[in-house]
Amino acid sequence: MTAPFIDVSIHHAPKGLSDRIAFGFTKALRWCADTFFAERYGHRAVVLETVAAVPGMVGATINHLHSLRRMKDDRGWIRTLMDEAENERMHLMTFIEVAQPTWFERAVIIGVQWVFYLFFFALYLISPKTAHRVVGYFEEEAVISYTHYLAEIDEGRSPNVPAPSIARRYWNLPDTATLRDVVLVVRADEAHHRDVNHGFANELAGLPQRAVAPCPPHNELAPMWRKAA
Ligand SMILES: [Fe+2]
Ligand SMILES: [Fe+2]
Repeated sequence: MTAPFIDVSIHHAPKGLSDRIAFGFTKALRWCADTFFAERYGHRAVVLETVAAVPGMVGATINHLHSLRRMKDDRGWIRTLMDEAENERMHLMTFIEVAQPTWFERAVIIGVQWVFYLFFFALYLISPKTAHRVVGYFEEEAVISYTHYLAEIDEGRSPNVPAPSIARRYWNLPDTATLRDVVLVVRADEAHHRDVNHGFANELAGLPQRAVAPCPPHNELAPMWRKAA
């Protein structure tokens, strides 16, 4: 399969204080990531995907509890957020085959998980609209970072190694697929999450919805692993 066409330039212009906080927070974290990783895109992908897989699970948990407590339908939000968390975790499972984090990065991952999980959980309880807007902005940045990674590969600074087999199975890529093909489908996933999360924030803010970038098809891998065991 080839990655669906996506518009890499989509940006939600901040409207109101909540959006401005979400945008400022994202840009501050972007600066930290740029300073820490510079051009080490493989390491950047591994470390940031450990964070990217958190919000979907937090949002799913809180919406699940809300649905139980209020005895109200979730309108598909829980499944959507769980799919996002699973998809982001598969990004991590893919990039860990491409770049191994240093011991320092592993320590950062553990510390950041504590802080970010608790922070995001609290934020989602206080303002789900701001929480989804933060993720929408994170995903805008992810699309930009993976576009830089593609340029890095195309200009020969990062080797275009064969696609890891887990990625070929998950995205249904041919045996000849390379890292470039993987980055293209990952970027399409990020664009999809971007539009879904801005859409959730818009819904909570009473703003109009925009088109959502198509999500590349994913294979369910768990049953294959179970069969192999
Ligand atoms: Fe991701
Ligand atoms: Fe993402």
